[in-house]
Amino acid sequence: MEIADETLKRIQILKDKYASIGQDLNSYLDGLIYANPLAYWDYIEVDALLSLQKPKTDFPDEKIFIVYHQITELYFYLAEHELKQIAYNGKNISDQGQDMGWNSELKIDYLIDRLRRINKYFEALTKSFDVMRFGMEKEQFTKFRMSLLSASGFQTASYRRIEIACTDLKYLVHESKRKHLWTAEVHEQLDNIYWKQGAIVEDTGEKTLTLKHFEQKYMADFHKLADEFETRNVWKKVQQLPEADRKNPKLVKELRELDVNVNINWPLVHYRTAVRYLAKDKGESKGTGGTNWQNYLPPRFQRRIFYPELWSQQEMDEWGKAWVEEVLADSIRTENLRENI
Ligand code: HEM
Repeated sequence: MEIADETLKRIQILKDKYASIGQDLNSYLDGLIYANPLAYWDYIEVDALLSLQKPKTDFPDEKIFIVYHQITELYFYLAEHELKQIAYNGKNISDQGQDMGWNSELKIDYLIDRLRRINKYFEALTKSFDVMRFGMEKEQFTKFRMSLLSASGFQTASYRRIEIACTDLKYLVHESKRKHLWTAEVHEQLDNIYWKQGAIVEDTGEKTLTLKHFEQKYMADFHKLADEFETRNVWKKVQQLPEADRKNPKLVKELRELDVNVNINWPLVHYRTAVRYLAKDKGESKGTGGTNWQNYLPPRFQRRIFYPELWSQQEMDEWGKAWVEEVLADSIRTENLRENI
């Protein structure tokens, strides 16, 4: 049988490819002869994926709770994947599909495109959060959550890594200390990051076990990230662009959307969900280990803003406020909660 020119051309390319890394083409062709065709279930690891849900109770809705957290982790993972590429200017891939390392400079179109992707991930999460909010029976939730103590979504390390990769740490320092630590080194800023004021026992002001465990497990990693992203976070990468690029309206739009997605939209749908499950008509509604969640979670209280330079004073004063109407129309029942939004 004659071998077509197109096939010969490919064989030549393959030969060059393997020669360039000191490998013998024929051995690799042998590998192709013996290899089985790839199946979807093996490639996507469907069986492994669907074996990762291990409810602690018999309440059927606990599975929904686990799966939705896992879905969220996967989207956050994708966001981190994009943030890493932004940090290192994107991968340089040869025509033969080989990884040639990171690019030496960041192209503005690449940056805009990656930011847009991250925004899409967050939009998907924000839109789908109703799966949590209305997708479980409150009676089941209030029971099975007691078997999960002291675990809390508060311990989502990926959200914290996303923040560190998105902006300078000085913007993430708790508001009460931000001015004072504005020019401090990143590790001191990290030790005073805003979320250390969350997962605090409401009655005593002590750290909850949830927070202590979280710090034990991840704080050292976060310090490494603080070093890695000090000069590579999104805001720094924007500063490193040529002046004209920095003001590119498409870039500014994506940055502002990112700020709103991570610091208002997602926190707000999450908060509304917490309200639905934890608020009671009368009396206290306890977070994990008695946390201060009602005073901590509302975006308007936290006032996390990645890119203050891109917002007017009025916009920052009203951070998270435009949502008040919508949230109030919701089924929030206690006066206490109403004041907190
Ligand atoms: C019924 C569903 C949920 C409820 C009732 C809920 C409730 C809470 C509460 C009360 C807190 C404050 C800390 C504590 O007391 O534990 C918290 C924090 C948090 N949860 Fe959830 N959560 C829910 C779903 C989720 C999901 C699906 C995720 C996704 C990973 C998540 C991620 C987080 C994060 C990242 C924080 C920290 C927020 C911050 O620091 O601003 N939660 N959650």
